Amino acid sequence: MSFIEEIDRRRTFAIVSHPDAGKTTLTEKLLLFGGAIRVAGAVKSNKIKKTATSDFMEIERQRGISVATSVMGFDYEGVKINILDTPGHQDFAEDTFRTLTAADSVIVVIDVAKGVEIQTEKLVKVCRMRKTPVMVFINKLDREGKDPFELLDEIEEKLEIKVRPLSWNIGMGKELKGIYNIYNQTLNLFSGKDKQIAEEPEKIDNINTPDFDEKIGEKYANTLREELEIIEGVYPDFSIEAYQNAEVSPVFFGSALYNFGIKEILESFIRIAPKPQNRHSSTRLVSPYEEKFSGFVFKIHANMDPNHRNRIAFVKVVSGVFKRNTNYYHVQNQKWQKFSNPTAFMASKQSIIEEAFPGDIVGLNDAGNFKIGDTLTEGEQMAYKGLPSFSPEMFRYVENGDPLRSKQLAKGIDQLLDEGVAQLFTKLSNGRKIIGTVGALQYEVIEYRLEHEYNAKVRFEPLTLYKAAWVSGSREKLDDLRKRKHQYMAEDKHGRNVFLAESFYALQLAQDNYPDLRFHFTSEYND
Ligand code: G4P
Repeated sequence: MSFIEEIDRRRTFAIVSHPDAGKTTLTEKLLLFGGAIRVAGAVKSNKIKKTATSDFMEIERQRGISVATSVMGFDYEGVKINILDTPGHQDFAEDTFRTLTAADSVIVVIDVAKGVEIQTEKLVKVCRMRKTPVMVFINKLDREGKDPFELLDEIEEKLEIKVRPLSWNIGMGKELKGIYNIYNQTLNLFSGKDKQIAEEPEKIDNINTPDFDEKIGEKYANTLREELEIIEGVYPDFSIEAYQNAEVSPVFFGSALYNFGIKEILESFIRIAPKPQNRHSSTRLVSPYEEKFSGFVFKIHANMDPNHRNRIAFVKVVSGVFKRNTNYYHVQNQKWQKFSNPTAFMASKQSIIEEAFPGDIVGLNDAGNFKIGDTLTEGEQMAYKGLPSFSPEMFRYVENGDPLRSKQLAKGIDQLLDEGVAQLFTKLSNGRKIIGTVGALQYEVIEYRLEHEYNAKVRFEPLTLYKAAWVSGSREKLDDLRKRKHQYMAEDKHGRNVFLAESFYALQLAQDNYPDLRFHFTSEYND
């Protein structure tokens, strides 16, 4: 297969949802179709969400398992599909945000009964910011849920996206009769069994025949015809281009648990989802079809096995071919490095690979050289952009719990920050260090890992803050802010100005008092 064909057949995407909407189940069923796993239940173990925060060892055990399932690659009808896994627990949302930067598209799973939930809103907001094409899968149709039209309105309103149904449910819950595929005009009847393999849906040439009425009952046939008419009247025709430009999101209905409606979304996905995309670097726009290899680290996973302390850096290949045992330039460290055991994840098995193409994810063993966002090239001085840190939502002061181990503590914190576990701010007024995270669980992770991996002890002290905002603007205004709000100012690890707002009002007041300064809630901004 030629280089171009290899690129063109790749589809790299992430599945996201609010916890419990069915992300894990959908992932598993997609893998089942791809032949990547044989039985349902294989992916289930990759879940942290149901663990109580106190049961920390369990979390670690599960984190270990999730390395293997971080990326799941499989071939389906000649298409190479790479599913990027995202943590189920919302305290690891930042990990999910970063994973989205490596995805060329996203499938959002929504529970038909619960509708749009808070985590879904946050995740889709990131997709909107990045203009990532989104597909929606409305799940759990085997249960009673909201009226589909109302749900579509809710999605448009809360997620601020335009939708276009491509499949439609016939009944719901106990009355679920089937799914009509609007795009292909096929009918998939619901059997109520958890099928391991989907049967071919029936092709329907005309839904206005007595034959069709007989299949699903006159009442349901009439309702379907009416609803399809409304759909055609209300929603614009589906356009692949509009979807790929992130202007419209196709919607599918189904039940992941019953393996129902999955084939419809998978078949549409391979036809319409975007191929590997161009990507902006600090100097230029890079095309996947360029000959020279380049890629960036979007995730670092520490190995939790105490006998193998190394980490895995996950690199998304942006352009060219990545080859084993070849020297590549690590831009941020200004060093050349080669990798003898790069791994990929096919059929949920991790194996050493000889080469990887744009769209693929390569796992590199790392002794602590990589940071999130680092770039590898064949020598070109450029850095990939688009890996923002988000303004943390929780804050604690860091204190050294063992004065004899301050070096270990500093090193440990430094490396954990490189992995993107949390963010560190230093207060201007007294030099105290603050760790900010998006979830409370992170503090347990940090404490545990510092102790077990770095032999250091940390003590956290409570700190109530509303938000940390990066501030940019003229030197003069910034100096003024640093002077007047000295007590509330800090620097991040790159020495950038950060305003620590104690409340929503404090933030608003600062923004009103300094209209010439810009307050940012992600660390990546251009000025
Ligand atoms: P998540 O990764 O988004 O957090 O969700 P997950 O797939 O783990 O699904 C959450 C729960 O919803 C699971 O039940 C799962 O079996 C169920 N579920 C997923 N898809 C469907 C569906 O289409 N219909 C119905 N009725 N249920 C569905 P659980 O009891 O919490 O866990 P488990 O004991 O089944 O693992």
